[in-house]
Amino acid sequence: MLVTSEELLLDAQKNHYAVGAFNAENMEMVMAIIAAAVEMKSPVIIQTTPSTLKYATVDMYRAMVNAEAAKVSVPVVMHLDHGNSFELAEKALKAGYSSVMIDGSHEVFEDNIAVTKRVVAIAKPMGIPVEAELGKVGGKEDDLVGVGGCTVPSEAAEFAERTGIQSLAVAIGTAHGVYKIEPKLDVERLKEIRKVVDIPLVLHGASGLSDEAVQTCIAEGICKVNFATELRIAYTKGVREFLAADADAFDPKKYGTPGMANVKALVANKMQVCGCAGQA
Ligand code: 13P
Ligand code: ZN
Repeated sequence: MLVTSEELLLDAQKNHYAVGAFNAENMEMVMAIIAAAVEMKSPVIIQTTPSTLKYATVDMYRAMVNAEAAKVSVPVVMHLDHGNSFELAEKALKAGYSSVMIDGSHEVFEDNIAVTKRVVAIAKPMGIPVEAELGKVGGKEDDLVGVGGCTVPSEAAEFAERTGIQSLAVAIGTAHGVYKIEPKLDVERLKEIRKVVDIPLVLHGASGLSDEAVQTCIAEGICKVNFATELRIAYTKGVREFLAADADAFDPKKYGTPGMANVKALVANKMQVCGCAGQA
């Protein structure tokens, strides 16, 4: 069943776990993520970025997630990840996404507040929660290369209050993509943000972090953890290995199957790490 992210994240905040949020690129990844959620009895957030939505469309991803979510009893959220414009957020809302992120973190503070408020103003009457970002998560995020800059706790409090958002992505040293060396996370900063912001906090760039690092962040107030790169690697590894072993293969179903199996196993593991396994 499809639910909004608000109820899931508030439950996670109350009970000190995090809901895993997984980026899907194709039908196989959608099926694998939902199959893992069923097996783990876990709530799950499936999300798509602007570049993914350029590859197909909001309607296409929404339809795939809807078809899978309708078959299962675990709660499934369809979320716009790193929405880069008011127009895209509006499009996702109209297509039936049950959660949206507007990412104005590349703008100056007041402009970030302004675009975030515009999205909240249309999402709220529809009952759809909004995630926004303050501070800059580093690395390559979708089509943009970010330069890190950590979230300032007092600004986070002001930002949450003035925008009326339901969750806030914070920058505490993570980056999108593959880490050359595992980053040292600014857990003290996270604790300071938690003290002054009482809505669910979101960790981006979780691929490549140790399980311990993820769990420390959850203990200090993170309620949603985003994984993208590791899923892409897992899917492609399955496909690549199959084709390497059988160079004459031509049926996409044949090489999609091991890709899907890899994604399902990875997602199931991350659900255990995040503590959302068993929460549905
Ligand atoms: P990774 O690609 O580093 O897992 O980041 C995921 C993310 O933050 C998606 O928004
Ligand atoms: Zn992200």
